[in-house]
Amino acid sequence: MTNNRGVFICLEGIDGSGKTTQARRLVKTLIKKGYDAVYTTEPSKGLYGKIIRKQLLQRNKRVPIVVEALLFAVDRIDHIEKEINPLLDAGKVIICDRYVFSSIAYQGASDFSQEWIKEINKHAIKPDLGLYIDVLPELMDSRIHRAKSVMETKQTQRKVREIYLKLVKDKHLVHVYGRATKREVAQTIEKVVFKFLERIKPSA
Ligand code: TYD
Repeated sequence: MTNNRGVFICLEGIDGSGKTTQARRLVKTLIKKGYDAVYTTEPSKGLYGKIIRKQLLQRNKRVPIVVEALLFAVDRIDHIEKEINPLLDAGKVIICDRYVFSSIAYQGASDFSQEWIKEINKHAIKPDLGLYIDVLPELMDSRIHRAKSVMETKQTQRKVREIYLKLVKDKHLVHVYGRATKREVAQTIEKVVFKFLERIKPSA
């Protein structure tokens, strides 16, 4: 890369995969190594993200998938405009905890047209790198101790994982083996990310 535009990296995984812990840890490691890294997440901290958390995730029953898909797409565009693009313009390395692949996997898991989900997300910028932390849905019970959200059933998570694995197969995401210690998973992620950063920004 010859200009100073930042780098956009996203981390994906089923619920309980440890991606939030890993995303935060990665930001700290990147900063230690001299990169100007920042953490962000979807659903975002903005207005639509708040609506999603309150009106969509904290319920007993899922709202129609079309509503879910549209709301996540709206939140994403807002997130890109208010946070991601300004951070990229400022030259930051963004570590995004979930992005468009979450919509393809979670809303796509309901036998809903993945093509349509991609279509409504077509204005979302492409990340430079996407990683998928792979764990089995069975791990969810031992890792999530709070009340489970409407997405956190084993049946949903199984389908979500299948779609993520297909995204890995199609080279949209890099597979990271998640059933190891936090430190080992972090080391695998760092290896992939640093290799990528050195390739695109040799002078960073
Ligand atoms: P999660 O990463 O678990 O957030 P939190 O920090 O609140 O625990 O994401 C919340 C849920 O939203 C998770 O079950 C996945 C779901 N989700 C979708 O279904 N589609 C999407 O596009 C996104 C971004 C998230």
